[in-house]
Amino acid sequence: MSLLSSPLTLRCGLELPNRLTKAAMAEIMAPKQNPDDKFPRAYSEWADGGWGFIITGNVQVSQTYLGSPKDVAIPLPNAGTPALQEAWRNWATTIQRSGTPALVQLCHPGRQSPQGAGKRSILTKNLAPSAVALNLGSSFIPRVATSVMFGTPREMTRAEVTEAIQQFIAGAKQAHLAGFKGIELHGAHGYLIAQFLSPKTNLRTDEFGGTPAKRAEMVLRIIKGIRAATSPQFCVGIKMNSVDVSEQGDGGLQACLEQMGLIINAGVDFIEISGGSYEDPSMFQADRTAPVIGSTAAPAAPARIPKASTRAREAFFLDFAKTVREYYPKIPLMVTGGFRSRVGMEAALESGACDIIGIGRPAAVVPKLPKLVLLNKEVVDADATIRLKHVEMGWLMRKVPIKSLGAGAEGAYYGGQIGRMGKGLQPIDTRV
Ligand SMILES: Cc1cc2nc3c(=O)[nH]c(=O)nc-3n(C[C@H](O)[C@H](O)[C@H](O)COP(=O)(O)O)c2cc1C
Repeated sequence: MSLLSSPLTLRCGLELPNRLTKAAMAEIMAPKQNPDDKFPRAYSEWADGGWGFIITGNVQVSQTYLGSPKDVAIPLPNAGTPALQEAWRNWATTIQRSGTPALVQLCHPGRQSPQGAGKRSILTKNLAPSAVALNLGSSFIPRVATSVMFGTPREMTRAEVTEAIQQFIAGAKQAHLAGFKGIELHGAHGYLIAQFLSPKTNLRTDEFGGTPAKRAEMVLRIIKGIRAATSPQFCVGIKMNSVDVSEQGDGGLQACLEQMGLIINAGVDFIEISGGSYEDPSMFQADRTAPVIGSTAAPAAPARIPKASTRAREAFFLDFAKTVREYYPKIPLMVTGGFRSRVGMEAALESGACDIIGIGRPAAVVPKLPKLVLLNKEVVDADATIRLKHVEMGWLMRKVPIKSLGAGAEGAYYGGQIGRMGKGLQPIDTRV
């Protein structure tokens, strides 16, 4: 049996039938913040795809601060009407109808909530651990865009931090009630939990800031609260960023490892490793040698199996996972970002750096990827690759010096494919 097709049992007892996970991808199709009929329709594509694990797109724990105006959000206390609860149950049941466990990803955007995303007035500032504004670029256009879209956040009071902790716990209870097998905390990509963990965005001097351990206090309280409010069998994972080179020099790596140790001891079942934020969207690296979507250029050379030396490096964040593994050999690690071939995935598992492979964009265009390709014995290794055409912005947008616009274009394109599935259409397969 290949490693990719071998089952894995997590600490909570949850068994994953194989190592392939459909990673979290925001669906951006809930204008009323509820998982209406489009959700089971879209997720039925993944449900029968042979995945080992399915993670929903980020569900916001606060109705006031969303990541986009069409995110699903946890119902306010006492607003979970029977019809709404039925919609949630229908979503959970459909995803898991073929035996694949599913998790809800819980998120609070903190300073990354754009204007118009959430039930708040135009004058209400975003909340964050400290009043540190996003930096999307130092020239005039990015500075104006940042101030119009996000503004400078307001430092949360201690009561507001406690409220956010309770919102995450309420989110886990909602997922539990609906029948999901667990939740994943979004602690990556620069959202609120990541803002608390980082010394760049958390300048607090109370019990939620000042040292790596105090910066982790908020997420530790969330994890312990969820453990107390759900059941021992309920899976709790967290997505975290790898430490970027600029932070490693300042003891950032040691701080991150210390925080991971505390998070593991608080009782998580797995850690997903990713990277990037709105300021530096490294999670959306793309194969720029592939043709552009919609171009009429001659077809590119067929995808090749990567050389042995590069196989294990196909994923963006694998080196960091190896470091985490050396410190914490027992915690199951999932790595997401860049996996595009069966041999690359097998090599990553064989290297011992990770236990679970997360797949984003390929899963949005080929929702039954494990069944059709990666775990299909009739597909030889040379053909078990997913090379995608890449998304390019229009010429005008390319002139704007904001790095995250490229990421926005990627997100919008693949989000659009999920939208197609929500309407009962097949996504457009952009494999080269
Ligand atoms: C349309 C889209 C939406 C995404 N939304 C989320 C999200 O809600 N939560 C999250 O943790 N990551 C999100 N991501 C990032 C993916 O989970 C993943 O980390 C990233 O796409 C890199 O993996 P890939 O190279 O396999 O695509 C999103 C990615 C895409 C393409």
